[in-house]
Amino acid sequence: MTVDGADRVDRADDVTASSVRAIASDELAEWLGVVRTAMLGSPLDHDTVEEYRRTGFEVDRCLAAVGADGRLCGAAHAFGCELTVPGGAVAAAGVTHVGVLPTHRRQGHLTRLMRAQLDDVAHRAEPVAVLIAAEYPIYGRYGYGPATEACGITLDATALAAALNGGWHEPPTGSVELVDTEAFLPAVTDVYEQQRRRTPGHITWRQYDVDSVAGVRPSTDGANNRAASRVVWRDDAGRIQGVAVYSVRSQWDANRPRGELRANPLVAATDEAERELVRYLASVDWISTVSIGLRPIDDPLPLWLYDGRVATLGDRSDHVWARILDVPAALSARRYATDGHLVIDVNDPLGYANGRFALDAGTDGATCTPTTAQADLVVPVAALGAAYLGGLSWARLAAAGWVDEARSGAVATAAAMFSTPRAPWCGHTF
Ligand SMILES: CC(C)(COP(=O)(O)OP(=O)(O)OC[C@H]1O[C@@H](n2cnc3c(N)ncnc32)[C@H](O)[C@@H]1OP(=O)(O)O)[C@@H](O)C(=O)NCCC(=O)NCCS
Repeated sequence: MTVDGADRVDRADDVTASSVRAIASDELAEWLGVVRTAMLGSPLDHDTVEEYRRTGFEVDRCLAAVGADGRLCGAAHAFGCELTVPGGAVAAAGVTHVGVLPTHRRQGHLTRLMRAQLDDVAHRAEPVAVLIAAEYPIYGRYGYGPATEACGITLDATALAAALNGGWHEPPTGSVELVDTEAFLPAVTDVYEQQRRRTPGHITWRQYDVDSVAGVRPSTDGANNRAASRVVWRDDAGRIQGVAVYSVRSQWDANRPRGELRANPLVAATDEAERELVRYLASVDWISTVSIGLRPIDDPLPLWLYDGRVATLGDRSDHVWARILDVPAALSARRYATDGHLVIDVNDPLGYANGRFALDAGTDGATCTPTTAQADLVVPVAALGAAYLGGLSWARLAAAGWVDEARSGAVATAAAMFSTPRAPWCGHTF
């Protein structure tokens, strides 16, 4: 089936085959123009558009909504990736570049795009779709649930330097080196791969993402790392285990330095690398405030310090949203904290994940199959997506009324099974 094929129309009364279609290769510039306009960005020049192609942007997965005048008015993209889940990984669609022109909003274009895209994701047998929602209310109606959270960390570098032992419990280890883009590219690629494998919620990077982070090209949201500083951290054996990109804003008050340093991302293969990169960032002269974006909500950073309050965690918010399309494939791809058996009734108004499934799961793996047995839990598919990575506990979802407990004790069982040692997290946008 193609994205504008007949079976999609069969499943959505309000979708017409002509309203959403895949773009032709020579429409990429126009399509990106729609995305940039919707996201209040400036137009991209010819070279930047060509960079998209060069870095493996999957043009055949660019969907466009077409207005009554035949011109493109909406956009949605997905790329194939692997999503790290507790104890494993699952094939996923990374959804991005979604936007509708301000002149065409609230006419159902996004709904048509999402339906066509989900049909295509199902057709490609990607059990899960993930995205980062610009605004909270947009994607729940399409079956996405908030699966990971992130926060920002602000560090008072002046107070840290004045604290006992320079503020840190552990003495410094390894070494930091400022590097150019050429040296940074292989380092960030390698370290990110290690970080994403050890952290549920991360996805595989495309060359497109690596280039954005390294500053070879601007990222989707217009951020440009080209002028930023890049550092690598080597452990005592000389292996690169961490990298960071940062920019500084120099400021002086009453002839004293009050500069601000912003790091994003900070990527690390180990906790030690993470700690040492933060130590470095906080040690840069003339800097009194260090901000690090998109950190995990259970970041150990405050615990590394004598005075943990020198670090402030803020801007906590939903980050990656997950949409399960194939329940057996998704639930059997992860491992669980405790052994258990659950029958989960999934309600998916769009039809992809509907059904009742028996989950037999434990620390070594899981099986998940359709069943006619009595349900223990009844959930909308968006709630299942929220619980999938262990980010939102079943108990919290039940307290919010997102889950019906059909058998007493099932919520507690599910909460224990799906829980993870650390909060799932994704350290970047896509
Ligand atoms: C968000 C956006 C894509 C919505 O597109 P759209 O074509 O207007 O959406 P639709 O007309 O298909 O709306 C579908 C439903 O979602 C609701 N909705 C859409 N955007 C919403 C928003 N930002 N907040 C709350 N509800 C929203 C609509 O009211 C509608 O509800 P209804 O079915 O109950 O009437 C578009 O407004 C846009 O491009 N915004 C700026 C860029 C952006 O946020 N992109 C998403 C990046 S993740």
